[in-house]
Amino acid sequence: MQTFTQFLAEMSVSPSLNQLLHTLTKTSKEISHAVQHGALAGVLGATEQENVQGETQKKLDVITNDMLKTTLAEDSTVKGIASEEEDDVVAANTDGEFLVSFDPLDGSSNIDINSLVGTIFSILPAKDGELTQQQFLQPGRNQVAAGYVLYGPSTMLTLTTGNGVFMFTLCPESNEFMLTESNVIIPADTKEFAINMSNQRFWQPAMQNYIDDLLKGDTGVRGKNFNMRWIAAMVGDVHRVLSRGGLFSYPTDTKNPAKPFKLRLMYEANPMALLIEQAQGKASTGYETILDIEPTEIHQRVAVILGSRNEVDACLKYHG
Ligand code: F6P
Ligand code: MN
Repeated sequence: MQTFTQFLAEMSVSPSLNQLLHTLTKTSKEISHAVQHGALAGVLGATEQENVQGETQKKLDVITNDMLKTTLAEDSTVKGIASEEEDDVVAANTDGEFLVSFDPLDGSSNIDINSLVGTIFSILPAKDGELTQQQFLQPGRNQVAAGYVLYGPSTMLTLTTGNGVFMFTLCPESNEFMLTESNVIIPADTKEFAINMSNQRFWQPAMQNYIDDLLKGDTGVRGKNFNMRWIAAMVGDVHRVLSRGGLFSYPTDTKNPAKPFKLRLMYEANPMALLIEQAQGKASTGYETILDIEPTEIHQRVAVILGSRNEVDACLKYHG
């Protein structure tokens, strides 16, 4: 079995990207450790603060954000950082080659029930000049690498550097990420979907009609029965889709008219879309390919429909 270090050497990843990926994995091991200690370390529960998106921050959101911010700022390859938990971009090293966007602890409401959470990251090339939000506003197609670390029964890293998708499992004895899945391919067809059904009445007609047909199963136009799963952490739901196929969606809804979309483009939708496309799946908003969106704001939100490509296409037909 290959270690992560051996894998990167074999993939001929540039020395600077190699350095950055090691910084990210080193920090994720420390996060894994903090998450595992849970109540023993007094890190569960909420703080009294809200993030820029008006969500109450969990203690672990703040702790993991600080861990990543500190280690990334010390990495000479990093020019700037954008995080779900930071209002604005954070400048790191003027000559850094990369911009790193991250969700330090996706699904953090799962923390208090000891369920799946993870760190999602996206790496973009930096541009010359001063670090501003503008630097980050590049389509997801520009990502140099993207991935996530899932803190579950085992801690797993899923990574793409634009050359396929690879999964690594953290060995508790050696504390090394070991390559356990190479060239992950998502089956084109599926009988499984993931969506928060409690929002059904707030969806657009296209999504309502599509899900209605899935629920009709073999008595409806789809002619087969579907199963449903919802982990409530995108990182867990996407990991299942990459592992055995499926369709995952957080679609447009009118529950809160001021917030028609839930998932964030820069550090949730884009990195996951790159992994999904690299595994031969598809990722769309319903009307636009996620990786082609020209961002206008670092914390912007988008509708997401991703997964097995034939099933995403089936869903897109309802969107016209
Ligand atoms: O980061 C947002 C997020 O927590 C995702 O990880 C997850 O897919 C979704 O929100 C869960 O939303 P809800 O609470 O509506 O089920
Ligand atoms: Mn998240």
